[in-house]
Amino acid sequence: MRYHRLGSLPKKHHIQFRKPDGGLYTEQLFSTRGFSGPMSTLYHINQPTEVSGWEDRGSVKVTYLEDEPLRHRHLKSRPMEPKGDAISGRIPLMGNSDMEWHQVVVAEPMKSFYKNADGDEILFVHDGSGVLHSMFGRITFKPGDYLVIPRGVIYRLDFDAHPVRMIALVSYGPVEIPRRYRNEYGQILEHAPYKERDFRAPEALDTFDEGGDYEVVVRARNRLTAYKFPYHPFDVVGWDGYVFPYAFSIHDFQPITGKLHMPPPIHQTFHAAGFVVCSFCPRMLDYHPEAVAIPYAHSNVDSDEVLYYCNDKFGSRKGIEEGSITLHPLGIPHGPQPGAVEAALGHTKTEELAVMVDTFHPLKLTANALELEDPAYWQSWKTKRS
Ligand SMILES: [Fe+2]
Repeated sequence: MRYHRLGSLPKKHHIQFRKPDGGLYTEQLFSTRGFSGPMSTLYHINQPTEVSGWEDRGSVKVTYLEDEPLRHRHLKSRPMEPKGDAISGRIPLMGNSDMEWHQVVVAEPMKSFYKNADGDEILFVHDGSGVLHSMFGRITFKPGDYLVIPRGVIYRLDFDAHPVRMIALVSYGPVEIPRRYRNEYGQILEHAPYKERDFRAPEALDTFDEGGDYEVVVRARNRLTAYKFPYHPFDVVGWDGYVFPYAFSIHDFQPITGKLHMPPPIHQTFHAAGFVVCSFCPRMLDYHPEAVAIPYAHSNVDSDEVLYYCNDKFGSRKGIEEGSITLHPLGIPHGPQPGAVEAALGHTKTEELAVMVDTFHPLKLTANALELEDPAYWQSWKTKRS
């Protein structure tokens, strides 16, 4: 991300910065990769190191199914019942050594603050709106927003109404803008499917100078620990730097189209260690007079492909519904179902809206995923033979 600042800052870092009563603010360097990666500097009213207690809340290590047979999967998330808050309601569906995919149907507001120290989070808000409150300030969000929250950020999500359907991706490596979209100065290039102004940094800093009893649930080492603070954790009067949460709307993604079919990388939105996130958005289709405007069958020999469908309009796929999730694993080809190519001929635009995650190591499913599975999906490629 680029440099951003909010609130009051001293003239230089590491100098005395005084409160109106003459006391010192506490400076905190917030780094996500040692002392040489992206970092921000925050100024707290209280000392962020002071806690009044802690409580073990147990393991959140995801249990995966081992040795599942190789086949295409279709999971239907639409029947999922609302459960818990934006954190406790996370249902892990799949993951690997690089990431976790959680499905969430949020039932209730968060009572505590949350911090994930195990990984960066990409939250995709399918149908809710509200405010992401964090120590870096507030970001208003709406349906179709990705919220990218770097590891270590204390935050709370407040929704305007419940239930809300979300995907919560946890990335063990940093989430970044793809290198090929940026120049040597880090600026986003003209051929990229978005520009800096599409990324919404915290819009205002809410500073709480309040004592009390506040709980921050910290996820670290696959375990939750509830930390108690004797002051409001959003006590920052100012910050600047390159690390902060931000929002990006899938509706602000500018699809790249071509005369003939363009490959999936043109949809890439985020880069992470071991996986990419892509956005499939409404767009004009390929304009060669004989173009086949949907993908050819492709052998993803080295990556697993997961698609979350925000609507039921996806040109190359039959039998999916809003909220469907398909997993096409590495090792076998996938592509349009029989009849899909013929049905797409002559179409000039698509209304599809979907989020895709391609991982470069195989994903393992959880038992929760199997509960959502349409077991007949693999047969949808069968053709009638005489
Ligand atoms: Fe694919």
